[in-house]
Amino acid sequence: MSPSILSGDFWRLGEQIEELEKDGVEWLHIDVMDGIFVSSISYGMPIIKSIRPRTSMFFDVHLMITEPERYIKIFAECGADLIDFHFESTKHVQECIDLIKEQGKKVGIAIKPDTPVVEILPFVEQVDMILVMTVNPGYGGQKLIPECFDKVRELRTITDEMGLTELAIEVDGGINSDNVSIALEAGANVIVAGSAVFKDSITENINKFNEKL
Ligand code: DX5
Ligand code: ZN
Repeated sequence: MSPSILSGDFWRLGEQIEELEKDGVEWLHIDVMDGIFVSSISYGMPIIKSIRPRTSMFFDVHLMITEPERYIKIFAECGADLIDFHFESTKHVQECIDLIKEQGKKVGIAIKPDTPVVEILPFVEQVDMILVMTVNPGYGGQKLIPECFDKVRELRTITDEMGLTELAIEVDGGINSDNVSIALEAGANVIVAGSAVFKDSITENINKFNEKL
């Protein structure tokens, strides 16, 4: 599980992160939006910097920003453990991968619902994770696009055939405890959830997910 703090309550963010830790959650998904690659603006370096010394959770930083190569070093320095950049956001995919690795961080490539799996295949051997978006990026609380699970299945089949058994596949957008089983069955092994984790009781929500994992 990689709960997305985009749906968190920023007044109580520290408490909410502590609750997730008590529930045994190890990853935190941090959505960075620039108002250009996606229409909304979320948060950036200061939030990551302020929570980094308070928790040892694994920071899964999802950059929804144009030309992410401009900011990779700074997000690494702020405390990201894994940096996901969007394939569609840059002409310099290889440079982004190299920059993230130079910083000693794990690399993820994210694809939007309309981007076919075949486009990222030239890079899959070099990365730790592929983030398959299951909604169009930009907002939390959207309804999942079920066809995206076909992409997960396709990606898992191809990468298994390539012998890339260590590759993580993350799904992000509209995931809840009712549809998570379909994501897992399709081959995803990292689950992002925002509204389905932070709405009402975090612990109860995590327990509901855990029953399905
Ligand atoms: C959307 C973000 C997601 C979002 C997920 O652009 O990348 O991580 O927070 O939120 P839910 O789970 O509510 O769809
Ligand atoms: Zn995200």
